[in-house]
Order: sequence, then C-alpha cells, then structure tokens
Amino acid sequence: MLNIALPKGRLGDQVYEMLNDSGYACPAYNDKDRELIIESKEAGIRYLLVKPSDVAVYVEHHAADVGIVGKDILMENDPDVYELLDLDIGKCKMSVAAPKGYVEDKDSTLRVATKFVNVAKAHYAAKNRDVEIIKLNGSIELGPILGLSHVIVDIVETGNTLKANNLEVIEQFKDISARFIANKSSFKFQNKEITEMVDKLAAVVRARKEK
Ligand code: PRP
Repeated sequence: MLNIALPKGRLGDQVYEMLNDSGYACPAYNDKDRELIIESKEAGIRYLLVKPSDVAVYVEHHAADVGIVGKDILMENDPDVYELLDLDIGKCKMSVAAPKGYVEDKDSTLRVATKFVNVAKAHYAAKNRDVEIIKLNGSIELGPILGLSHVIVDIVETGNTLKANNLEVIEQFKDISARFIANKSSFKFQNKEITEMVDKLAAVVRARKEK
C-alpha cells in the first residue's frame, strides 16, 4: 500500500481531478463525507485527507509515502522531502499587497502581516529592508485594514479577496503551484510504485499543456 497525503479544500478539487485523469481516482472523495482515510485495494493506495499545510508534515515523518502540496508551504516550512514533480495546478503568486494608494515610508520599519513568516523574512532580507513580521493564521487581508500592518505577504490566485477588501498587489515575487513530494526512505524502498505514479502524473501534466 502506498499512503498518499492529499490536501482538503480549494486545492483538493483540482488534485482529485488530476488523480482521476492519471488512473489513481480516489473512490469515495465525491461523497464529501467526514472520512479521513480512504482505501483503494485495487489501486494499492490509501488516501489520507489532511489540511493543506500538514501534507508535508505527514510525508516528512513517514506517516505518508507521498503527497501533494503547494510550493508556498514547501517554501515556508522547508521539509526534508523529495520534490518530484510540478503538477501545474493550484497556480497562484506569492505577493505583497497593501491598501489602494498606499505609499511606503522607506525610512521606517515596514510592518508585514502574513502566514508565511519565513518567506516574508527571506524576501525582505534580500532587499535589506527593515521589517516587523506579524504572524496571522488566516484573514490576512484584515491586517492593513485595521492598522495592524502596512502590507501583507500572501498568495493571490484570482485577486478577488484583495479586491473585496480594497487592497491591491504591489509586488509579485514567486510563482506557486502544487508539487508531488515523497518521503526520502519511501522513495528508496517503494521506488517502483512512486516512480510509476510520477510518470503517470507527468503524462497528464504534459497532455494538459499541449491542449
Ligand atoms: C488564500 C489567501 C487569500 C486567498 C487568495 O486563502 O490567503 O486569502 O486565498 O485567493 P484569491 O486571490 O483567489 O482571492 P485560502 O483560501 O487558502 O484560505 P485561508 O486564509 O484559510 O488559508
């Protein structure tokens, strides 16, 4: 059995479609019930449905052999796993955003609200910009609205959340997409199964790009 950690939520729907197209359909996913482990004996796969930010935790600690996770989370947490394939889904951009018309005062410390503390730190360190990072776990857009921060660092997909909150992108600095990752020891000992899965997924990625 290959244990695969899959993200629930927004990225989840695209992931299940991709698994379906590559011959690894997750049988009960459509039921949208509360089951967190789904087994497909025929495919030899056990699907673990987890929070997107936990996928790499399961894989790194060998509770799952492989997983699908956003590059944003890999950048932030830098887990000790192999990143084997860019799945070209869940595409968005790591961005800096601020209230419309915001003008930065370059002489004072920039206050930045974000879920991506390490990503934000690295981004501003590379520019030698003095920042105070304020860690939030969600609804980041509220930061500048309530004066908690000047700007936010967050992923932007459609831009709808920013727009609805009168914010705009002032900088985009990293393209994000979902990646297929593997536990290092699983990659060694279940290499055949994992390589076969990567090849099938890669074929779907290629076919979609050619469309
Ligand atoms: C992300 C991000 C933004 C939103 C951007 O949050 O933090 O809030 O998506 O997407 P958009 O550009 O299409 O509006 P997510 O939906 O992952 O929820 P979370 O805040 O609970 O992590």
